[in-house]
Amino acid sequence: MRDVTVIGVGLTKFGELWDKSFRQLIAEAGAKAILDSGIEGKEIDAMYVGSMSSGRFVGQEHVGALVADASGFSNTHIPSTRIESACASGGLAIRQGYLSIASGMNDIVVVGGMEKMNDVVGASATETLATAADQEWEAFFGATFPGLYAMIATKHMHDYGTTKEQLAQVAVKNHANGALNPYAQYQREITLEQVMNATTVAYPLGLLDCSPVTDGAASIILCTTDKAKDYINKPVKIIGSGQASDSLALHARREICTLDSTVYASKMAYKQANLTPKDIDLAEVHDCFTIAEICAIEDLGFVKKGEGGKAIENKITTRDGPLPVNTSGGLKSKGHPVGATGVAQIIEIVLQLQGRAEKRQVKDAKIGLAHNVGGSGASCTVHILEAM
Ligand code: COA
Repeated sequence: MRDVTVIGVGLTKFGELWDKSFRQLIAEAGAKAILDSGIEGKEIDAMYVGSMSSGRFVGQEHVGALVADASGFSNTHIPSTRIESACASGGLAIRQGYLSIASGMNDIVVVGGMEKMNDVVGASATETLATAADQEWEAFFGATFPGLYAMIATKHMHDYGTTKEQLAQVAVKNHANGALNPYAQYQREITLEQVMNATTVAYPLGLLDCSPVTDGAASIILCTTDKAKDYINKPVKIIGSGQASDSLALHARREICTLDSTVYASKMAYKQANLTPKDIDLAEVHDCFTIAEICAIEDLGFVKKGEGGKAIENKITTRDGPLPVNTSGGLKSKGHPVGATGVAQIIEIVLQLQGRAEKRQVKDAKIGLAHNVGGSGASCTVHILEAM
């Protein structure tokens, strides 16, 4: 296998983007990444793009071809592939781009992710997202993603004594980080009281325990490490790539508070990188709901099972703590345009490892991890990156 490196990144603003179309978003993110890397369009061998449900959100399928067309590559006929794995579509697009270079098939690829979720009304967005749950066992009976994660949260509180305050502290921390991110949907701090008193969405999760409904796109340029020195940015190497799956429905899992797809995908990535959780300097984890971040830091091996709530309370994961988590603001504050999220997570890690994260910059970070989950945990990707 050949080594693979990120040489450029590009992000649109995340939020309610009424003045931009689906195709404009991905073209903007892709163009920014190409400019950032210094490559020329003719050097690109292939494109991989993550999108969860463009057919339902904007009525557009055939997204691989659309992205090549919108980016001005229709007359060069480059291969362009759409990847879908629910909210992990972006992470999986990166893994596919990574494998295509590692295998020797391609030298330079563009990986993108996007979703435009606000063109439909809220109830329709909730229903579309629920297509990633098990239709026969969950969605048919009215389960939504806030509802499914609320069940995980309730069980976590029962089994480990995790409190609603500890859940709220995840949101407070991530909004404090998002307030410093010019690309975030919510660039504002929130207080513990605001989170605790927010309208209940599905007990124990309130409005401010949930990631929002977001429009946005993200793109990165991947290149074989041998060639990376020819380009302008400090290269960041992908040293571990893991992927795993699990049963679609929560009830069929071994244990609902542990996302085994996270456990297995991270083991695969740690093994390839020859590292342990202790070696990670910072992480972007999939905090679609506050409980999801608590489960993630446990399942990735950063803390023992059941101790995630205490770790948040003890400020282990704040920007100036021993293991900064979600310095971008996470899905909670930066926003969660589902197909774009996995790519945007890698962008934050790359910016941090290159020393380009501006007001959010963490000191001396050398190794970062990105964790992207599909649905309630039926799919997961984990990538580990190292500054070269
Ligand atoms: N975090 C912070 N603020 C939020 C928010 C969120 N998640 N969602 C909405 N808001 C704000 C809005 O900006 C708005 O503020 P304003 O009145 O000052 O403009 C206000 O709260 C009401 O927004 P609205 O859009 O009417 O909320 P809603 O009730 O339609 O939607 C949720 C709220 C939580 C139901 C929706 O954001 C949601 O479904 N989130 C989960 C998405 C999801 O499941 N993703 C997949 C995960 S696997």
